[in-house]
Amino acid sequence: MFVKELLKKYNGKTVVDGVSFELPKGKVISLIGPNGAGKSTVMGMISRLIAQDDGSVDFEGKDISKWKSRELARRLAILTQSNHVQMKLTVRELVAFGRFPYSGNRITDEDEEIIEKAIAYMELEEFEDRFIDELSGGQRQRAYIAMVIAQDTEYVLLDEPTNNLDIYHATNMMKIVRRLCDELGKTVILVLHEINYAAFYSDYICAFVDGKISKFGTVEEVMTKENLSEIYRVDFEILEIEGKPLSIYY
Ligand SMILES: Nc1ncnc2c1ncn2[C@@H]1O[C@H](COP(=O)(O)OP(=O)(O)O)[C@@H](O)[C@H]1O
Ligand SMILES: [Mg+2]
Repeated sequence: MFVKELLKKYNGKTVVDGVSFELPKGKVISLIGPNGAGKSTVMGMISRLIAQDDGSVDFEGKDISKWKSRELARRLAILTQSNHVQMKLTVRELVAFGRFPYSGNRITDEDEEIIEKAIAYMELEEFEDRFIDELSGGQRQRAYIAMVIAQDTEYVLLDEPTNNLDIYHATNMMKIVRRLCDELGKTVILVLHEINYAAFYSDYICAFVDGKISKFGTVEEVMTKENLSEIYRVDFEILEIEGKPLSIYY
């Protein structure tokens, strides 16, 4: 995916300001940076949920605006921050929803298998017949992520996937993200606030500040004391565990 000079304005104010990058395939890439830096807007534009005011997104050799919606949905799945499906659905029905772009509304035996696996991935078996509005925030978040996993696309975009999750489920979530990449060869793009998860589980970091890319590189390149202190405007120390830079801040 090539992104060239993306620009987005809201009410005359530039919120994404000339963002360009090339995303490596088959890697985990985390977008980090302060609130309001433009991470979700960029994620929206690279998945065609949000129309840019200028610039372009080249997806698999073709401008993303030229893709048929159904073809795009087979290749790219996104979970936004406000993932609300306004229907009375059970967990299983919600996850099955993820298969629709593939099955043309007909759930095959193969679809059933994928749905089952996605539910098991997110440890939702005991909730599969519960309505999604009767779940806790964390359980519901896991159900939506299972829906995205069931969509089984080459690209998986997750905006703050660990939101609402306790440490057990958040860590599990990040391990699943890693497996989606390492075992299934998917390209995973995340927005993350937990920078230690970003450091430990991703390959590349793209840091945003004020609508611009501040740093882009491997975890080792970006996660330095100087860079993080500049991006977040707090003091950082970096520890290394298993060769990975992990940060503490104060
Ligand atoms: N639909 C919208 N209408 C107006 N302003 C918006 C809209 N979406 C985002 N913004 C503004 O654009 C800026 C970037 O937002 P966002 O991309 O959500 O940031 P991040 O995900 O990095 O926290 C913020 O100042 C936000 O208030
Ligand atoms: Mg956001």
